[in-house]
Amino acid sequence: RGRRRPPEIDDRYVGSLAEAMLRGARASAPHLARLPLWRDRAHLADLAGGSGGYAILLCRMYPRLRATVYDRREMLEHTARAVADAGLDDRIALEPWELRGDPVPAGHDCALLSHVLHLLDASARAELLGRVRAALAEGDPVVVHDFLPGTAAGAPSPEEAASAIDWLANGSGFLPGPDEFGAEMATAGMSVRSVTPIAATRTAVVSAACTPGLPGRHSRPSGSAERKARR
Ligand SMILES: C[S@@+](CC[C@H](N)C(=O)[O-])C[C@H]1O[C@@H](n2cnc3c(N)ncnc32)[C@H](O)[C@@H]1O
Repeated sequence: RGRRRPPEIDDRYVGSLAEAMLRGARASAPHLARLPLWRDRAHLADLAGGSGGYAILLCRMYPRLRATVYDRREMLEHTARAVADAGLDDRIALEPWELRGDPVPAGHDCALLSHVLHLLDASARAELLGRVRAALAEGDPVVVHDFLPGTAAGAPSPEEAASAIDWLANGSGFLPGPDEFGAEMATAGMSVRSVTPIAATRTAVVSAACTPGLPGRHSRPSGSAERKARR
């Protein structure tokens, strides 16, 4: 209908969203953390990482991993509490970041987009995926966790149907199946390696790797995120 709702929720509800995301991460994050790709990674970019549940679990499980959670400043106040409660202030940095325009800072060797792409329409998704790819080097992993219709066995649950209606209503249009989503990733310079449904949450974990850089892209960016995380 030509109308798009912005991805930010009203500031009054950010605290409730943060709490809900922490609970959601308890169910989903262990499935992501099981991927062997994290073992040799040094610095995760958790983009629109919310209250930090995924970064926290990954850092707990992989002692050599550090993370930076990027999100709105309003959300990061809540993230800071969760990170402090987990005793991980020294390994998880927080950076205010604008989903629809800010570059992904250099210095990362893996990225996570959990429940982020469904906030965006196809062109905004492509643009964000391009920024993610530009910040990483060939071979670096990108993990997407989201609703991916057609991945889970069986008929869509009532929650999936409701989500689909939400997305249609807010104009995000995020309804690609695994093949179409794989094509979006390929266009952005990432190749899907595996798609794993999580039965309990009716979501899917997509594990991808950056393909050879496009002309003009760096092979190994270095810079601000690396320096900030060391501070
Ligand atoms: C559905 S939550 C997902 C959070 C987390 N990745 C997870 O899976 O639990 C979407 C996140 O996007 C963030 N967000 C929404 N609009 C944003 C914007 N314009 N810039 C940065 N982050 C934004 C929200 O604050 C929220 O943390």
